Amino acid sequence: MIKLSKVFICLSFVFIFAGVASAQEFKSLPEPAKTGGKSLLESLSLRKSDRNITAKPLPEQELSNLLWAAWGINRPDGRRTAPTARNEQKIEVYAVLQDGVWLYDAQNNRLQQVLPSDVRNRYAPAGVTLLYAADVKDDFSEMYVGSVYQNAGLYCASAGLANIVKVSGKNELKGMLPLKKKYEVMAIQSVGYIN
Ligand SMILES: Cc1cc2nc3c(=O)[nH]c(=O)nc-3n(C[C@H](O)[C@H](O)[C@H](O)COP(=O)(O)O)c2cc1C
Repeated sequence: MIKLSKVFICLSFVFIFAGVASAQEFKSLPEPAKTGGKSLLESLSLRKSDRNITAKPLPEQELSNLLWAAWGINRPDGRRTAPTARNEQKIEVYAVLQDGVWLYDAQNNRLQQVLPSDVRNRYAPAGVTLLYAADVKDDFSEMYVGSVYQNAGLYCASAGLANIVKVSGKNELKGMLPLKKKYEVMAIQSVGYIN
């Protein structure tokens, strides 16, 4: 009897430990707004790079809209706001926020934490820094990254936000993100309020 209870206690510890070890933090995003903002032609006429961005965090609604515009799902079959060859969708978007680095999960409209620490000081001030990771061996990756940052840049123009795309700084978190095989951060984009 005593032996059985000991086994039970040990097993409970194993299960609790396994649960803690696999605990993953997620952050649900508000439903992205799919109407409103400036017209496409007005947004195109306003699109520009801006290097004077404040560190003020974006409201969750703004972040959700931005991520959806960049790389969200816009059709019931799971296709996206940016095209990819054979709809392979080989690009991932990460958001550097005050509470860590988060992977955008468009299917579930949420963020998944991949790094718990505040690493914003590695980048220029921004409400959010987006990191675009793709397969460096795939000939189309630069096209995918370009399509997605242009979507985000046009959203910024439409919403009155500042943004700049950079390749310098793309390796700041090298080896620290749980990237897929052959994936690397190929460009970054700072987004926020104009200083
Ligand atoms: C792929 C790419 C890489 C860039 N890399 C940098 C960079 O490392 N540093 C920087 O200050 N600006 C960078 N820029 C911003 C460009 O300098 C800027 O887009 C260009 O001067 C044109 O200005 P505009 O975006 O306002 O039209 C980059 C832009 C692109 C598209």
